[in-house]
Amino acid sequence: MESIVSYLAANEERFVADLIAYARYPSVSAQPKHASDLKACAAWIAHRCQAVGLQTVGYETATNPILIAKTPRPDPHKPTFLVYGHYDVQPPEPFELWNSPPFEPVIRGRNVYARGISDNKGQHLAHLNAVEAWLQSGQELPCNLTFLIEGEEEVGSTALYDFLPEHRDELACDAVVISDNGIPTLKHPALTYALRGIAAMEVRLDGPNRDLHSGIFGGSLENPAMALCQLLGKLRDAKGRLTIPGYYDDVVKLSAYERKQLAKLPFKAEQYRRFLGVPQLFGEAGFTPDEQRTARPTLEINGLTSGYQGDGSKTIIPSWASAKLTLRLVPDQKPAKVIKAVTAYLKKLCPPTVRLTVTPGHGGAPYLVSPTSAFAQAALRALKAGFGHEAILMREGGSIPIVSAFKQHLKADTLLLGMALPDDNAHSPNEKFSLDAYAAGMRMSAALWPELAAAA
Ligand code: BES
Ligand code: ZN
Repeated sequence: MESIVSYLAANEERFVADLIAYARYPSVSAQPKHASDLKACAAWIAHRCQAVGLQTVGYETATNPILIAKTPRPDPHKPTFLVYGHYDVQPPEPFELWNSPPFEPVIRGRNVYARGISDNKGQHLAHLNAVEAWLQSGQELPCNLTFLIEGEEEVGSTALYDFLPEHRDELACDAVVISDNGIPTLKHPALTYALRGIAAMEVRLDGPNRDLHSGIFGGSLENPAMALCQLLGKLRDAKGRLTIPGYYDDVVKLSAYERKQLAKLPFKAEQYRRFLGVPQLFGEAGFTPDEQRTARPTLEINGLTSGYQGDGSKTIIPSWASAKLTLRLVPDQKPAKVIKAVTAYLKKLCPPTVRLTVTPGHGGAPYLVSPTSAFAQAALRALKAGFGHEAILMREGGSIPIVSAFKQHLKADTLLLGMALPDDNAHSPNEKFSLDAYAAGMRMSAALWPELAAAA
């Protein structure tokens, strides 16, 4: 183990250079104009996997390539673990809020700034570097490893959902390891044992057949933008509870044990409030902020569009208004059932003065795994070895929908071992990744394989 850790330290500078090279690709999966950048980025990471000594195959899909890279000469007597990551990134907009261009990574202090560097390029690269250390320092890995790296996690993993059952044998494993999530601080490495699910939808209200003069016509017909605001406003009460009938029916109650564990997280409300820049926090009454953002379901408006958005003013009644919504789900809520419930409720609430269209979007089930399994305990030890601090248990509010597909098709549980920090600005301007998290993540990954192999 010692020689592996010193290999990691000795090669840190090159690992940082690799991180910067990887983050240079504008691999934005949401934007069709970046299709060739996604391909180039996939080629770069495939090349890195090969250079590390992994047997690497890139698969073309109808959308972005999927990569499988395996440690050489798989030994059937050893357990196999699957490391998942994604090379696609969120759109960088709005550009003007970045202190440096999103695809020109720069180091400031102990951080590297670039879109996608924390979510998720830096995190799976740390695992790859740890494997390099094992292979290059001539040590025999106690397990077989398979890397699965895809290019459309940020837009719903469409290709991977079809790919997974087709490549079930190639991807067979004893457990999945994912670092695509966060920890509270570098002193609180964590095993995340639950993720929220997601259900996306668009709601559109159509009114008059064209934008109208608001002076000539205003007052004699419904304004779709106003109707949409009122409609959406009815979905939540003053106490932060959603009003959709049946919405909470399948929600599994937090146990007293879990609430006690969650209360151990280093959380300071006033500091959190200032960090977010809001005048006051708000959430469902009866729950702490950490419970609200990880263990309770929500409905969020992600975007609202209607009417005139240009310079100055324009006196119109817009012809239509629309909203993009996502609901974050917790065990045992089901995306399809939730979308049905919200659609039925919107139909019931919608006034007869406008036409309602609801378009369902992507969905992903919530995830919950036992934090007391042998694998989980092994992961906690590796976290401590890598970060130098006792590891804690936590839930996450974000979603990695493919995790439940791993369970379904590979019959494997997922260990979520995040390296991102709360101020990494994932999905926000000025995303960054901490070089200390990168180094600790590599050490954690190096320590993980003997721990997991012993627990298998
Ligand atoms: N890495 C995140 C998910 C995440 C973030 C998990 C923080 C836990 C903590 C991932 O890349 C992501 O952003 N996922 C999307 C999924 C969606 C587009 C289906 C999300 O959660 O919004
Ligand atoms: Zn993301």
